[in-house]
Amino acid sequence: MYKIAVLPGDGIGPEIVPEAVKVLEVVGRRTGIEFQFTEALVGGAAIDARGQALPPETLDLCRQSDAVLLGAVGGPKWDALPPEERPETAALLPLRKELGLYANLRPAYLFEPLAEASPLKREIVAGTDLIIVRELTGGLYFGPKKREKAGAGEVAYDTMLYSTAEIERIARLAFEIASSRRCHLTSVDKANVLTSSRLWRDTVDGLKGEFPEVTLEHMYVDNCAMQLVRRPAQFDVIVTENTFGDILSDQASVLTGSIGMLPSASIGGQVALYEPVHGSAPDIAGQQKANPLATILSAAMMLKYSFKMDQAAAAVEAAVGRVLAKGYRTADIYVPGTSLVGTAEMGALVRRELQEG
Ligand code: NAD
Ligand code: IPM
Ligand code: MN
Repeated sequence: MYKIAVLPGDGIGPEIVPEAVKVLEVVGRRTGIEFQFTEALVGGAAIDARGQALPPETLDLCRQSDAVLLGAVGGPKWDALPPEERPETAALLPLRKELGLYANLRPAYLFEPLAEASPLKREIVAGTDLIIVRELTGGLYFGPKKREKAGAGEVAYDTMLYSTAEIERIARLAFEIASSRRCHLTSVDKANVLTSSRLWRDTVDGLKGEFPEVTLEHMYVDNCAMQLVRRPAQFDVIVTENTFGDILSDQASVLTGSIGMLPSASIGGQVALYEPVHGSAPDIAGQQKANPLATILSAAMMLKYSFKMDQAAAAVEAAVGRVLAKGYRTADIYVPGTSLVGTAEMGALVRRELQEG
């Protein structure tokens, strides 16, 4: 029996998360493995109901679970709050930090039927199969920061702080992942300007000898942003610091058709957390327009990384592939000639394929 903490959060979270939960229920029935789901409040929903973005009982539940499934947090309603109260900085970041989730795996894989859904040409996106290994508990997000009065105005700073140990653990993981894939690792930094990037590059170089089978390449982040849309198939594994990884992964999502397709796994601690790369999408929330596939594919990553159920994970991915091959599309991946479906309908289609497959 596996205990799964379910944190739908805000915006489209409560629409997409149940679709992934129901997919896991089908997996449970088919494999005879019992999943026990317990829901908890996080983000704006928790602020409204409990007065704080990450109530202690939510963190406790996560710690006591075997895995966490999260939707998204944040939205216009809570945007005016100070950083120490906001859903993003008072719930999501502390949750990642408290659980020790220093590695965020963000695979960008093109399901072939979606080549036309990308604004990029088919011949550019064809063959996209990369994974961004994003450092998740360091850098600008967690370094010393301050905003204060200065003369007539104010000053503010954030600090991109990294230690050798922090870089080594994420880089080692990225080398290992590369080693299990096509053995090509691109480390992305801004070492021509930033001191923390200099340490990053030196530290990554220091691990090369441990992984002779992996070809290591360094790339500046600005060039990487360009190369991602110029020739994405050149990438296998990308390892980078927190902020660069955040930005590059939203960009990489476009190679796959939509940000609604990109799953993620945050690992490195006792309990891993699975969430789509996208946010709470307030512009489409409550309208059954959201694509649940990123969350369903995040559940597949849970099966693989937390429960070592590789076959079940592959079955979920294959079911998603078949639904797309049959021409079903949510609005974000719709092209003329395909069949437009809503959030719940897309979830149901995946489950039907899973049951039949
Ligand atoms: P967003 O990812 O929520 O939305 C960007 C655009 O992508 C929007 O047009 C949205 O409709 C679309 N989109 C996103 N997910 C989609 C899906 N599943 N299906 C179809 N379309 C989808 O980013 P944003 O608008 O910059 O942020 C909105 C809120 O979400 C903010 O409060 C932000 O802080 C928060 N956020 C949270 C997370 C998280 O919880 N992990 C991640 C990113 C942003
Ligand atoms: C993400 C989000 C978060 C991040 C925000 C909401 C704190 O953009 O998960 O990609 O920057 O990590
Ligand atoms: Mn992001």
